[in-house]
Amino acid sequence: MKKLSSIFIIFLLISCQVNEEVREQVGAMGDEAMVVSAHPIATKAGLEILRKGGNVFDAAVTTHFMLAVVYPRAGNIGGGGFAVIRTNDGETACLDFREKAPLRASEKMYQDQNGEVIPQKSQLGHYAVGVPGSVAGIWELHQKYGTKDWGLLVQPAIDVAFDGFAITADEAATLNEKQGDFIAANHYRPWVINDDGWKAGDLVIQKQLAATLSFIRDSGKDGFYKGIVADQIAKEMLRGGGLISEQDLESYEAKWRTPVTGSYKGHKVISMSPPSSGGVALIQMLQGAEMHSLGDHPHNSIPAVHLMAEIERLVFADRARHLGDPDFADIPVATLISTDYNTIRFSNINPSKATASQEVFAGEVELVESMETTHYSIVDPFGNAIAITTTLNGNYGSKVVVEGAGFFLNNEMDDFSSKPGAPDMFGSITGKNNAIAPQKRMVSSMTPTIVEKDGALKMVVGTPGGPTIITSVFQTIINVIDHDMSMQDAVTAKKTHHQWQPDRILVEEGALTTSQMDELKDMGHNIEMRDKIGRTDCILVTNDGRLEGGADYTRGDDYAEGF
Ligand code: GLY
Repeated sequence: MKKLSSIFIIFLLISCQVNEEVREQVGAMGDEAMVVSAHPIATKAGLEILRKGGNVFDAAVTTHFMLAVVYPRAGNIGGGGFAVIRTNDGETACLDFREKAPLRASEKMYQDQNGEVIPQKSQLGHYAVGVPGSVAGIWELHQKYGTKDWGLLVQPAIDVAFDGFAITADEAATLNEKQGDFIAANHYRPWVINDDGWKAGDLVIQKQLAATLSFIRDSGKDGFYKGIVADQIAKEMLRGGGLISEQDLESYEAKWRTPVTGSYKGHKVISMSPPSSGGVALIQMLQGAEMHSLGDHPHNSIPAVHLMAEIERLVFADRARHLGDPDFADIPVATLISTDYNTIRFSNINPSKATASQEVFAGEVELVESMETTHYSIVDPFGNAIAITTTLNGNYGSKVVVEGAGFFLNNEMDDFSSKPGAPDMFGSITGKNNAIAPQKRMVSSMTPTIVEKDGALKMVVGTPGGPTIITSVFQTIINVIDHDMSMQDAVTAKKTHHQWQPDRILVEEGALTTSQMDELKDMGHNIEMRDKIGRTDCILVTNDGRLEGGADYTRGDDYAEGF
């Protein structure tokens, strides 16, 4: 009897383990609607719009402006981004509201007289700022698809900016980390500078930002790109030696682009086209994964990590050479995502040995910034879906807060190639297609993505993380489709990353055991640890037609809620 019961207990333990391996946690559930973003206040504000009968485009307006208030490191009006959408009748589209180089920008603007890249010049302060695109993008989305009054959608962000909100421990820590940069980048003392140090629960009131948002509420896009706010930006630029003029602002336009599409094991993948490299790279990676049966290997097993690294290395080498702004260079998108090309491209992967990344652009670099951007995913009761990734580039962008207007400006100029072969702040290399030119958009890794199955919505995916955006989206999709993970598990699962140069696999703490890493080193891989990779905020349509929101609360304050 005793023996029998212990066998039963062992059986129970094993079956629990098996179940836990498959589905450890399920995210927020909803029957009709779901919002997932980097901050609970932004998620709840977007959801409230859906509850009042708004659609995803209406909810995106409110979520976006709320993130600019409550998540100042990446939520923004002074940055840019990309949206991928799928309407309930199956129409797909993508919107490019990426920042642009100012009219006075030039190819060698970050080099000294000897042709050396000047450290930090493209990263900190006024000279690093690209012409912001976010307000034009969110305005354009609403103009085309919104149903609720614009002013009512912007108002919740104004209220929170005016009345204040309590910052989280994570935000306090990040603000404290950047105090030196805030002081260096600003000629006055914006609200972010706090000599006593920020603490969780501190109330942040942003009256200047509330006033700026009121201009946007009342005049739409023109409330930012013309009039008082445009004047404040131009004056800020003059004071700090930046290049953006009122003409730059007035001429900025968001652009509708054709999404890049591909397939993975019977799923249709719809993602962002250039100037983001994200969609092209993701579709290439998924082709490599399918060709080499990546999904047959257990999650984060040695063969899986090796294969992913080899695939990612090849794709990032293509990215470096070919990607750029399609308005300035011919980007061979069709070839890069074609099965003919990728069959050859991935044909020489050795299952037991790492390939050395080419030595064309030698030089290891350290990341000088954490990888901040932000992503939100929304599905509405009408069946529309939107994936938006938006950024200031580094945490709090250039660290410049526009005097009188209260918002951060991006440091997106660093995403250009400052010089052929010179790495950006993410250690990522791009080539002549991404050289700086006036009015050009810099290459991005942002990968807002929508996945369909059998003609119906299946997933809405995206994340911050510089180049790790692409590999995190790739692995999140694989986790759901191949490893049958819940959306929440796929989001929280530990990630790895390879980007060709520098030649190393970034391994998130806890992703691999020491002996696994030793084995990968024996195969020829270099390994470098990272505390966090990715911060995906995604939505899955479950097999019974419900919505599961996976918010990355393990790496941030991210929050999903549905109804
Ligand atoms: N600034 C990061 C990206 O666009 O990929």
